[in-house]
Amino acid sequence: MYRTQVEPGWSLDAWRGRARAALAIGVAPEDLQWDGDAQQGLALGAPLPDAPEAGAQLLVPARFMDLASAVLCHRDTGRHGLLYRLLWRIVKGERRLLDRATDPDVVAASTLAAAVRRDSHKMKAFVRFRQIEEGEEAYVAWFEPDHWILDRVAPFFAKRFAGMRWAILTPYRSVRWDGAVLTFGPGGVRADAPADDAREDLWRTYYANIFNPARLNPTMMRQEMPQKYWKGLPEAALLPSLMREAGSRVRDMAEREAQAPRRKIPARHTAPSPVDTGGLVAARAQAADCRRCPLWEPATQTVWGEGPEDARLMFIGEQPGDAEDLTGRPFVGPAGALLDRAFADAGIDRAAAYLTNAVKHFRFEQRGKVRLHKRPDSGHVRACHTWLQRELATVRPDTVVCLGATAASAVFGTGFKHTQERGRWHTLGNGVRAMATVHPAWVLRQPAAARESAYRVLVADLAAVSSGVNEPTRVNVRSQ
Ligand code: URA
Repeated sequence: MYRTQVEPGWSLDAWRGRARAALAIGVAPEDLQWDGDAQQGLALGAPLPDAPEAGAQLLVPARFMDLASAVLCHRDTGRHGLLYRLLWRIVKGERRLLDRATDPDVVAASTLAAAVRRDSHKMKAFVRFRQIEEGEEAYVAWFEPDHWILDRVAPFFAKRFAGMRWAILTPYRSVRWDGAVLTFGPGGVRADAPADDAREDLWRTYYANIFNPARLNPTMMRQEMPQKYWKGLPEAALLPSLMREAGSRVRDMAEREAQAPRRKIPARHTAPSPVDTGGLVAARAQAADCRRCPLWEPATQTVWGEGPEDARLMFIGEQPGDAEDLTGRPFVGPAGALLDRAFADAGIDRAAAYLTNAVKHFRFEQRGKVRLHKRPDSGHVRACHTWLQRELATVRPDTVVCLGATAASAVFGTGFKHTQERGRWHTLGNGVRAMATVHPAWVLRQPAAARESAYRVLVADLAAVSSGVNEPTRVNVRSQ
């Protein structure tokens, strides 16, 4: 009888080394005690010798290694022995053992692996970084996993947030990313991580806006977002009150819908809509009846631009969202709320600017009761270009700001490289200076840890617009 130990217990390399040593001298599973096994306290066996340096390579199916790497992260104390039993059976001739889905060892290992994968998924979904001031920017998150998954999941965060400095603390272990290397250290306590971050208000506002009370399913929600994670989630603070109010909000919604028919589109015309010159009022009336592309049909109404007809500054977004489609006004939903806040931070007066969209109908995909935003394609942008031209020709702004790549393609042409050109001034053919920046909805879509810096990109570009400090650079662009 032998005994052995895997250190750290979740390490595939460590377990493989011990398993190889046992196989090399032919130790059967029943003759090997793994520290952590239930009978470990009895410590009956002799220590397992190390494997010979040039020990034979273990040839096992990749599927087994994949299963083992997950099982090892489980807290179950019998997992090392269970895996060794599976390995023993495989190398002794049961090569297709893992295909036998009802085999008790296979069932046990698969169950442990599934729990670890679930826990890993929760970690990816529910880790929320908080910014700490440390001279340079750094973020810390607190998370309490059910299993030993930090080493398994950390590379995911390194890839996802490669450009940031961050640390994740758990009760048993911590990991730090300095932009190049992951370094593991001891565990911590919740108080080691900062609590609320002021910018989380923004996230909460967004969450409250997109929360649909009619789709509330508390059982499902608790399954997907178990309550133990709530304390780490800024949006979770809202859940009890949103859930409490869900009933009355649904009633309000039902009443509102009963009073106001959603569709405001006039009956279909056979002839294409006319486009002529004239003021904004005339153009708006014509656009209300637009059939230049199929987007008019499922949408509620054309969402025309808004602002003074002689505005010096024009902002162009992508297309109306759900709230804009229902109200008929641009930028009144969550992206609009964020844009208002960015305007305030950058010193821009929304009321003095003209806000519009490259595409004037809401493109969406119906999923149950929810209408999910769907990006317009170049055909929709082309079809709407005539309306944008009418707005540009009538308002004649000095400065145009494109919010996002779709608006930029409508203004600068489809060859415009938004990522490279973002934040730079260009001069349009008619002498108007123009810049493309990020879309506020893109900021909202960023994971919590990246949202703050994305927001700052938007505000910095808007501040440059507001102060006019950047001189226009002449580049070749499509004329208006
Ligand atoms: N996104 C846009 O691009 N425009 C809007 O009006 C609202 C959201």
